Amino acid sequence: MERIRIAVLVSGGGTNLQALLDAEAAGTLKSGKISAVISDRPGAYALERARKAGVPAWEISRKACGGREAFEARLAEVLRESGAEIIVLAGFLSILSADFTRDWDHRMLNIHPSLIPSFCGEGFYGLKVHEAALARGVKLTGATVHFVNEIPDGGEIIAQQAVEVCPEDTPETLQRRVMEQAEWILLPRAAEEVCRKRLEERNA
Ligand code: GRF
Repeated sequence: MERIRIAVLVSGGGTNLQALLDAEAAGTLKSGKISAVISDRPGAYALERARKAGVPAWEISRKACGGREAFEARLAEVLRESGAEIIVLAGFLSILSADFTRDWDHRMLNIHPSLIPSFCGEGFYGLKVHEAALARGVKLTGATVHFVNEIPDGGEIIAQQAVEVCPEDTPETLQRRVMEQAEWILLPRAAEEVCRKRLEERNA
């Protein structure tokens, strides 16, 4: 069966990558195939997850590339080499240029750990998102999968899942619940939906 090749871009622990790998193994992600994992941070544990799953992985260090232009040129080269048609940003921390994102219009997804438009945009990533949600005193937060455009966390929303905030929550306990109850469920579903639609359009 034809499947859309997916490149997953990572920077850290890779729990969202793991959710995608597990979904592919379980057959719930069946219209797409994770064909490459690319980290902008050397030694990210996500690379170990890729290795264990037998998925080709690359490290592209911005520092080693000597700036964003060279970094994006190398990234584009690896993506071409991998044959990827869809990019999934899974805990990826580098901001990509407008030119780069335009080349992947409606073909690049991102998972953000809040209900956009709350707690998103410049400077909102990782634990900072949950610290802001707790500081504001929201009773519900969650996660959002969206297409990526030139505005950080500004692209068209694909899916959202709400998660309850508990009175005794710390940023860490809230992050964990948002991952378990929202991110790790939403991202594989959204990847499957985008890949399935792409296959349908191609075979229409
Ligand atoms: C997490 O904060 C997640 O919400 C966000 O990126 C961070 C790391 O995720 N998407 P991962 O474990 O590397 O997938």
